[in-house]
Amino acid sequence: MTTSNLRIACVMVGLPARGKTYISQKVCRYLTWLGINTKVFNVGNYRRKLYGAQQEHSFFDPSNPIGIKQRKESASAALEDMIRWFNEDQGIVAIYDATNSTKQRRQWLHEKLTKEHVQVFFIESICQDESIILDNIREVKLSSPDYANIDPEEAVSDFKARIDHYKDQYETVTEQNYTYIKLINVGSQVIINMIRGYLESRIVYYLMNLHTAPRKIYMSRHGESMFNLQGKIGGDSALSPRGVLYADKLPDLIKQNLGDKELIVWTSTMKRTIQTSGLLQYPKMSRKALDELDAGMCDGMTYEEIEEKYPEDYANRDDDKFNYRYKGGESYRDVVLRLEPVIMDLERQGNILIIGHQAILRCIYAYFMNYNQEDLPYIKIPLHTVIELTPKAYGCDEKRYKVDIEAVDTHRPKPNKAQTLKKKVSKPELSNGTTTNGALLGASGEIVHDIGSPILPISPQLWPSNGATKHKGASSHLKQDISAFAL
Ligand code: ADP
Ligand code: F6P
Ligand code: PEP
Repeated sequence: MTTSNLRIACVMVGLPARGKTYISQKVCRYLTWLGINTKVFNVGNYRRKLYGAQQEHSFFDPSNPIGIKQRKESASAALEDMIRWFNEDQGIVAIYDATNSTKQRRQWLHEKLTKEHVQVFFIESICQDESIILDNIREVKLSSPDYANIDPEEAVSDFKARIDHYKDQYETVTEQNYTYIKLINVGSQVIINMIRGYLESRIVYYLMNLHTAPRKIYMSRHGESMFNLQGKIGGDSALSPRGVLYADKLPDLIKQNLGDKELIVWTSTMKRTIQTSGLLQYPKMSRKALDELDAGMCDGMTYEEIEEKYPEDYANRDDDKFNYRYKGGESYRDVVLRLEPVIMDLERQGNILIIGHQAILRCIYAYFMNYNQEDLPYIKIPLHTVIELTPKAYGCDEKRYKVDIEAVDTHRPKPNKAQTLKKKVSKPELSNGTTTNGALLGASGEIVHDIGSPILPISPQLWPSNGATKHKGASSHLKQDISAFAL
């Protein structure tokens, strides 16, 4: 996606507990996944750092002069950092996460940002449903550093008093010369004004697809295929006998976890995923966009054959796996772009099971779990394992269920950089096929668990701790968790 010199600041607007941080994190995750340099600047975090976390509601009273001064200073510090980030770190989209609930505050931001040649896009969340607000307070605000060690009921009543202070001075966005979107009652009504250009309209479309209803996202690779057994990549082979056994067991596993709830199943258009879905009694759809990464001229080969026949390509892929594009085929970057409509659609769905492929599920998993592009192509998505993601306020909980049927291990670990560079300059040796890279077959020394038992519970960090997106940090944090529980 080309964005040329475009710089956009998404400025959140809304009373406390209206989902502003939730929306900020989601938009940041989506754009970062697409490869757009995006960062969240949360004014509350600046306020906590500059003036301490535990401020009671009177701090937010619009007639409290100290509160006014310190909140303005926090807002300025966040804005300065944001402008510095645009100028020094080639930022494309910044998300300014604060209440910004007065015309005066918005005018100040609009002027400052316009002067820096940054387009301003206001995103307002309005919610009049008191039960949603109370749920939001209980779900996220009680675990905020603002209320550490405070009695929950006391915290709820203090937070409600904080909201009332904001209500006294709140002015909804009506400035007709501004670009804005208003999301009313969790998107049941949407108003947009002066949306310009591709990126802003993508963000609008994305926001229109978001919902907060509880649901589960299940992901599974197809059962082991004949090509998996032979160590070959790509192709359109059928399941191996062990793959068929996995397909037999899948319906019970899903039923045990989901009960009688509704589910839809998406597969790719390839034999092995359709065969794996065969016994599932749910509505099914096969989607071309879910077909495995196209290995082009290497389709149907083993990694060893590729290394021998195309040593330079093999080394280049190891050097930058996300960007390497197979000749006549695709890169992970290509796959992310082809999956973008799938992600939009996924956001709209309720319970869903995606039966996919190794590279495809890495890309989808990376979106939900905030992996960076460098680590994405090495995420472990083993065969005969169901991954269950449960979206929460600022991330997803994860469980993995391994079915007790052996399968080959198709994961190739990330080679170390020095090794890759050495290979790149020593082509002749490589073409002799002296080096092997990663065991493919028969790696069945896995811990085997009974059908239906979760083996990998991962809780994401509940509270985003600083203004920046947790993208890099969260990624390595989660990756460590995964290797600690390595299958
Ligand atoms: P704020 O940043 O406005 O204080 P948060 O983002 O911290 O609020 O609130 C998180 C909660 O808001 C989550 O539990 C999420 O389900 C909920 N939420 C998400 N989007 C919306 C919305 N559009 N309106 C109301 N609540 C929302
Ligand atoms: O080996 C199974 C497979 O799905 C291949 O079809 C595909 O080319 C490969 O995995 C993708 O994984 P990697 O990017 O690690 O080669
Ligand atoms: C905050 O301090 O938590 C905050 C959101 O600040 P403001 O309302 O000033 O944007």
